[in-house]
Amino acid sequence: MNIQALLNEKVAAAMTAAGAPEGSPAAVRQSAKAQFGDYQANGVMGVAKKLGCNPREFAQKVLDNLDLSEMAEKVEIAGPGFINIFLNDAWLAKQADMALTDSRLAVTKEAPQTIVVDYSAPNVAKEMHVGHLRSTIIGDAVVRTLEFLGHNVIRANHLGDWGTQFGMLIANMVRKEQDGADVSMNISDLEGFYRESKILYDEDPEFGETARNYVVRLQSGDEYCKEKWKQLVEITLKQNQRNYDRLSVSLTDKDVMGESTYNSMLPGIVADLKEKGLAVEDDGAVVVFLDEYKNKDGEPMGVIIQKRDGGYLYTTTDIACAKYRYENLNAERVLYFIDSRQHQHLMMAWTIVRKAGYVPEEVSLEHHAFGMMLGKDGKPFKTRAGGTVRLADLLDEAEERAFKLIDSKESDFTQEEKRHIATTVAMASVKYADLSKHRTTDYIFDWDNMLSFEGNTAPYMQYAYTRIASIFNKAGISPEDLEGNIILADEKEKALASKLLQFEEAVQQVAREGLPHMMCSYLYELAGAFSSFYEACPILNSEGETKQSRLRLAALTARTIKQGLDLLGINTLDRM
Ligand code: ARG
Repeated sequence: MNIQALLNEKVAAAMTAAGAPEGSPAAVRQSAKAQFGDYQANGVMGVAKKLGCNPREFAQKVLDNLDLSEMAEKVEIAGPGFINIFLNDAWLAKQADMALTDSRLAVTKEAPQTIVVDYSAPNVAKEMHVGHLRSTIIGDAVVRTLEFLGHNVIRANHLGDWGTQFGMLIANMVRKEQDGADVSMNISDLEGFYRESKILYDEDPEFGETARNYVVRLQSGDEYCKEKWKQLVEITLKQNQRNYDRLSVSLTDKDVMGESTYNSMLPGIVADLKEKGLAVEDDGAVVVFLDEYKNKDGEPMGVIIQKRDGGYLYTTTDIACAKYRYENLNAERVLYFIDSRQHQHLMMAWTIVRKAGYVPEEVSLEHHAFGMMLGKDGKPFKTRAGGTVRLADLLDEAEERAFKLIDSKESDFTQEEKRHIATTVAMASVKYADLSKHRTTDYIFDWDNMLSFEGNTAPYMQYAYTRIASIFNKAGISPEDLEGNIILADEKEKALASKLLQFEEAVQQVAREGLPHMMCSYLYELAGAFSSFYEACPILNSEGETKQSRLRLAALTARTIKQGLDLLGINTLDRM
């Protein structure tokens, strides 16, 4: 149950009954301090101002119309007209017990929507690098969250699998084959292969000519070229999959809907945009002029959708892709997890999409942008030599560092166990460090921070989970065998229960705003509430129903942490 949403509804209804205009926001929030109750409604002041009445008096009228007798033990007016709501202990305890015995922690499913999520989207014949890491990790966390809420999620990996670069890549493949090389093996260093092809293209006119010829053949559907192209795509996918698997990212080959998916739609789209009067011939190219965007001279900006040589562009593909997602996939909502530097590109494509009527307004197209990953020096994350960091190398380094850390601690783990713990902690750290930051800002990649057992980090959260598992071990009780009910006698017990019941709010927020850091913040607060509880309320040394109740709170905390981390794509360990 989403307590905040429920209170919001009830207070809003009471406000309307007290004379507020229909639809006035109750603005119920979690209270910042315990003295302000568990929740606070802030909407009264705004309405009172509009109505021209005294806010505290209006707040009283709202209270006269508000019945929270079951949920709250105290509702009071504070300051200029805030309404502070103190939840009832018995009611909270009952909700917590219900969450504990429910397989989804009593999180209600939402009315299912078909939601397409565009994420990861690396490019063929290029290694995945750290730039694709953010899209992959953040997108996957949101995908998991949306599925948990019952939505029909379509993962769309918009692989960069088309473009004129394939001419030179195919030409280089053919060249190597003629030299008798086994190409499938040789391209294992894709980045190097790409660079080599580019150099040949730039420096060898004959090679350039051959490459351009292959582009034409590929575009006209030549079987031989298509075969070569497919080979390149497959090698790339295999390499990417290794990264996805290491990171527990839920993408598979089935989710690939690369740029080439839309090729057959492009001529029709250009013709249609011309017919609708949106696109015009301009100096041999086809261009859409947008009043919404001005160029340097203050004139409508031109978006090229077909080049003079007949070729199509990244924007043309994104126009087709949005149309396809609505028409063929029946998307009701489309989320794009793409670098913020592509914002204008997307906005221009979507302006055209809306003007052409390809996707109706009620289907939201959302750019969930993210900033860059920076090194400790505040500059874009690079290798020491200044090159882009291969994702696979980054993950190797994470494992090595985590292993050193785990190995340096006193423990009775075998080498093999240590390896397993190190890998789990390493992948979690790389992911969590990214997920826990607000995605729209650039973020600093810092090994020491992310592997720290203190602060809002993966090791801290994983350890918080493991610690509770060890309490049950020591108690010799399995969480399934607990009896009795949760009783909230101590202030810390109540604070913990209140936090536990905010899980659904965090889940829904991530789903709505595509901001996984909200789940991280929630889990971090939850772990903090558990620590305070654990310090103030002994578990193992307590007796009878108190012990059962505290163990129940501990069990619910462990399950909530595990579920929350799972939605983020982070694995837990029973021992570490
Ligand atoms: N492949 C692109 C890149 O590496 C990202 C594609 C994002 N998705 C999209 N629909 N444009 O920058």
